[in-house]
Amino acid sequence: MPRASATIATASARETHTLGKLLAKRLHGGEVFAINGELGAGKTVLVRGLAEGLGVRHHISSPTFLLMRVYRIKDRGKKIRRFVHVDAYRVQHPSELTDIGLNEFFGKPDTVVAIEWAERVKPLLPARRYDLTLRLGKTLNVRHLTLHRR
Ligand SMILES: Nc1ncnc2c1ncn2[C@@H]1O[C@H](COP(=O)(O)OP(=O)(O)OP(=O)(O)O)[C@@H](O)[C@H]1O
Ligand SMILES: [Mg+2]
Repeated sequence: MPRASATIATASARETHTLGKLLAKRLHGGEVFAINGELGAGKTVLVRGLAEGLGVRHHISSPTFLLMRVYRIKDRGKKIRRFVHVDAYRVQHPSELTDIGLNEFFGKPDTVVAIEWAERVKPLLPARRYDLTLRLGKTLNVRHLTLHRR
């Protein structure tokens, strides 16, 4: 993991997915990813890569109507047992997420959390987190991803 921040460009959804998978392999548990980027930037693509890399077997749906989904990781011997996926796009107030217990997952050594549209729930984000931003590139299918450790 980078100390401060790193930026990388991908040229296809496949590459962004692979990047998520590679990133997952470097995680220890307890990480929270605050993911931002406009509609269609590739947040969910990246989250699917992360999930696959962590060993989530379930299909990661785009939880536009479900605020939060908790996936169990069944592989024996894995320290990370849970992947929590949040889509804050429709959240009106951060309390909607605290009410359903999101913050209880923050920093748990057996859990990794990924929050799409994290800027919408900024007050509830933990101080220790990774801010991950995706930006559309000038050419089709190019995305610029920035990872910043807080
Ligand atoms: N380099 C790339 N990385 C990721 N996705 C890409 C890339 N190039 C093209 N795409 C396409 O962009 C779209 C990204 O969709 P995705 O659902 O991941 O976006 P999102 O940021 O989650 O949007 P939303 O805000 O609606 O949740 C997909 O259709 C994907 O195939
Ligand atoms: Mg999405």
